[in-house]
Amino acid sequence: MAGERSEHCPVLLAEVLDVMAIRPDGIYVDCTFGRGGHSRAILERLGAEGRLLAIDRDIDAVVAAADLAGDARFAIEHGRFSDLGRFVGDRGWAGRVDGILMDLGVSSPQLDTAIRGFSFMREGPLDMRMDPTQEHSAADWLAQVSEKELARVLREYGEERFAGRIARAVLEQQRHRPIATTTELVSLIESVIPFVDKFKHPATRTFQAIRIAVNNELGELEQGLGAAVDALAEGGRLVVISFHSLEDRIVKRFMREEARGRETARSLFGTRAAPRLGLLGKPVKAGEEETRGNPRARSAVLRVAEKRAA
Ligand SMILES: C[S@@+](CC[C@H](N)C(=O)[O-])C[C@H]1O[C@@H](n2cnc3c(N)ncnc32)[C@H](O)[C@@H]1O
Repeated sequence: MAGERSEHCPVLLAEVLDVMAIRPDGIYVDCTFGRGGHSRAILERLGAEGRLLAIDRDIDAVVAAADLAGDARFAIEHGRFSDLGRFVGDRGWAGRVDGILMDLGVSSPQLDTAIRGFSFMREGPLDMRMDPTQEHSAADWLAQVSEKELARVLREYGEERFAGRIARAVLEQQRHRPIATTTELVSLIESVIPFVDKFKHPATRTFQAIRIAVNNELGELEQGLGAAVDALAEGGRLVVISFHSLEDRIVKRFMREEARGRETARSLFGTRAAPRLGLLGKPVKAGEEETRGNPRARSAVLRVAEKRAA
């Protein structure tokens, strides 16, 4: 990893371990390895027969798992969790997985490493790719997006009320000299919208929105959730931690829909498939002590569901 050293403090760790109900000989998947905070704790609870597959689309995360290479219970895949079905199928684990974790969003090292371009507080190339081998960076995306589409992204993914104003200014700037760095984008945003919230930098929402678009985060989540339910064994647990309302809304709707049984056809009486999930408990948030030590935990919401018998 180039640049600054940064650790990642796993959020809601005790709660995740509790709801995963880890069996020493069980099969588990951590869809978002990051720096392996959750994975390492899961491994501590696994016996010699247990298995943990980790996934991350960021090659830096895969490199950070190098110290686990000698652990025969562990494997890591560089890829997207929307491909979970393939990773699990390759191992003959379809319908056999006892617990799946998704700890969404970016890791602290991604945010803190200026060259990755995720942070509006650090000067770097306007990159924002979670997977640096992916073709299009945020700068590439801005170079081809229309004003209308950019405004939509800022409104929907950033809940930015000045979306139209920012989109107009960005497209105007692109015509003269394409925006190449985080600081160029920040200065532009600061020049067109007022500081309305003293607790939130004016670039916060724009950076979140562009990052979500560049990484297709919401599409990944929808596909990943579906693949996770297919992969789970009866009684297996799906555990998802989201960090903003858009993610949490998708997770909540998905779990509810699967717990009611998906609509398979529209008719007067409705036709529903058998429920595939049961909801477990209420959404969990981090306690005061955790949020004091780890500000990232403040917006975390954990939801859990259990796979039902077919
Ligand atoms: C919040 S961090 C996970 C931190 C981890 N639980 C830990 O304790 O270190 C999220 C990680 O998920 C990865 N990620 C996000 N979306 C992904 C996706 N669709 N497929 C694979 N990895 C993804 C990111 O690259 C990042 O490393």
